[in-house]
Amino acid sequence: MDLTVEGKTYINGSFENCCLGIKNGKIAIVKKILKCDDHIDFGSKLVLPAGVDLHVHFRDPGMTHKEDFSTGSKAAAFGGLSCVFDMPNTVPQTTSVRSLSDKIISAGKKSFVDFGFYAGVAHDNLDELEKLAKKCNGFKIYLGDTTLALLFDKLNLKEVFKKISAMGKPVLFHAEDEECLIKNRSKEKNLGDHLHSRPSLCEEISIKDILESSKGVNTRVHICHVSSCEGMELLRNRPANISCGITPHHSLLSIEKDMGSSSFYKVNPPIRTSFDKETLFNSLKNGFVDVIESDHAPHTRDEKANVFNDAPSGVPGVETMYPLFLYLVKKDVLSFQRLISLLCTRPADIIGVPKGKIEVGRDADFIVVDLKDESRIKSDDLHSKCGWTPFEDWPAVFPSHVFVRGEKLIEDKEIQVSQGFGRFVGA
Ligand code: NCD
Ligand code: ZN
Ligand code: ZN
Repeated sequence: MDLTVEGKTYINGSFENCCLGIKNGKIAIVKKILKCDDHIDFGSKLVLPAGVDLHVHFRDPGMTHKEDFSTGSKAAAFGGLSCVFDMPNTVPQTTSVRSLSDKIISAGKKSFVDFGFYAGVAHDNLDELEKLAKKCNGFKIYLGDTTLALLFDKLNLKEVFKKISAMGKPVLFHAEDEECLIKNRSKEKNLGDHLHSRPSLCEEISIKDILESSKGVNTRVHICHVSSCEGMELLRNRPANISCGITPHHSLLSIEKDMGSSSFYKVNPPIRTSFDKETLFNSLKNGFVDVIESDHAPHTRDEKANVFNDAPSGVPGVETMYPLFLYLVKKDVLSFQRLISLLCTRPADIIGVPKGKIEVGRDADFIVVDLKDESRIKSDDLHSKCGWTPFEDWPAVFPSHVFVRGEKLIEDKEIQVSQGFGRFVGA
């Protein structure tokens, strides 16, 4: 054994006082008593699986004044995540084998946590999808316009499903219907206008189209950031190959409360009413939703402070996601079972990485948490380059330790490895 770790460990849905034996970065054995030369006893602290975030925008390459892979992945590490999956709306967009390979090489030098990449599906790279599939962790399709999106025409959805289904990689969707967005578009002065420009109807239309055109397809289809009650309703009886995610901002914030008319909360799809928020939160609680994904979309304070109509859409969230929900578990608002499934096990299984669960054979990725160790989220304490958070002053529980592949990444809230520790988890 290279390392043994003792603590109150979350295994198969409950806590056990036991020891993990770690060899070559994997959990090799789980036993009541086990001790090698390198042994850490965390006493009554909780040992939980590290989180897996299926949806981040680390802006690297091309917009590294907002974030880069080093700062974004450091934020992920401090937030208790061991693995992140980065979206293709960078500059250049990740639509060719060349741009994908460049991203993999660059992130390999910069990342603090393990990582994967999606390739964007555009109309001009359909011939390259097969080659891309050999390297990427999944595909991303944007059915509506958002920050630097590669718009895809829904009329070609059936055809693209046919093509991709043979490739064995998941397809993720930004589900807002472009035609509907265009119809409702207006000059926006505040969050209410943004909500009217992007009504839930646009999400509904898009989800219906995805459900319809993916009929008979066995590929994993994942609908990102479901934001409305209507969208959730449509997904209630979805087939087993269709999964969906909800973000912390859509399930914890609503426009009547919490925020005024600040462009800092401008995001796509929009934050909606408290009724939507509650429906989404209940769907997290009762198991209708597969994952919580951050959609970490950093823009600088200056950019966000622009006049409302010109301010970019997106909010950061990779560092605060797990700590915010850990606090809600502490307050008995959510169960540990749901939390671990939503943040760790389901995302890992959906994207196909051996992480997200403390189990023999999986990567030794775990965090150490003391539920008494409660703090308030402060922008100044966070590690994203963007320097702000929509959850300023919210209570949270941050992990004291984070382990990835059996290596101590964070100890007593200090980073222990250098950038480049993180590994690509794809082919
Ligand atoms: C994202 C971004 O800024 O990259 N913005 C957002 O409002 N969510 C893009 C996206 O996920 O739609
Ligand atoms: Zn999106
Ligand atoms: Zn996104």
